[in-house]
Amino acid sequence: MSRMTLDRLLQSQGFGTRRHCQQLVADGHVRIDGTPVTDLRIQFDPTGIEFTVFEEPWVYREHVYLALNKPAGYECSRRPSHHPGVLSLLPEPMRWRGVQPVGRLDHDTTGLLLLSDDGRFIHAQSSPRRKVPKRYVASTHDAVTPELVAAMLAGVQLHDEPAPLAAVQCETLGPNRIAIALEQGKYHQVKRMLAAAGNHCTALERVAIGGLRLDALDLREGDWCHLAEPELGMLLADGSGGTR
Ligand code: URA
Repeated sequence: MSRMTLDRLLQSQGFGTRRHCQQLVADGHVRIDGTPVTDLRIQFDPTGIEFTVFEEPWVYREHVYLALNKPAGYECSRRPSHHPGVLSLLPEPMRWRGVQPVGRLDHDTTGLLLLSDDGRFIHAQSSPRRKVPKRYVASTHDAVTPELVAAMLAGVQLHDEPAPLAAVQCETLGPNRIAIALEQGKYHQVKRMLAAAGNHCTALERVAIGGLRLDALDLREGDWCHLAEPELGMLLADGSGGTR
């Protein structure tokens, strides 16, 4: 990683315009090893550098890979219209540096949502060719029956799809709870598949993507965390350790 001045480093991490970052440094709000650094000429190797801005600790990261436990009532779109956007749950520098959701969950769907500012990662994760199962737990209005589970596994026809869509795993979790794993990510897919099979989804949570399970991240609703190499590797796994 090439060396950079502190204002450039801050700018790359989402602390605002170059001018604003220069001002933060000049005003002594940025510390490294507890000492304010005000000299804008010093060049740093940014790799893994730890610093504080207004006493809040940060670590330099070329890109960020985040997991959010999305609460209900937040939109994943970049320009939310009816509900607050999921980006409002992140610190401001994450928005400045261009973090975006990887794919979408409906505003009323909860659970595991990935976010990143790495366009290649977002593109690779969102590719329809990527056959990584996404696991959901749905609550249903009517009882979950063996016929419903069988229909999910056999495939149901959605009216704007050329062929039936099937779950790669499906099991009953309770009288009105069903676990469903899908390899595609079509619009409202779980809800529409349940409706096409004659039931109705009343609540939906995404509990895993590949081998990365939400419960293993220990995030309360609305909380987020950085994902490091081991967790990013789990996204590639098929997660065939059960649907919940
Ligand atoms: N399927 C849905 O119906 N909604 C989601 O948010 C995700 C999958």
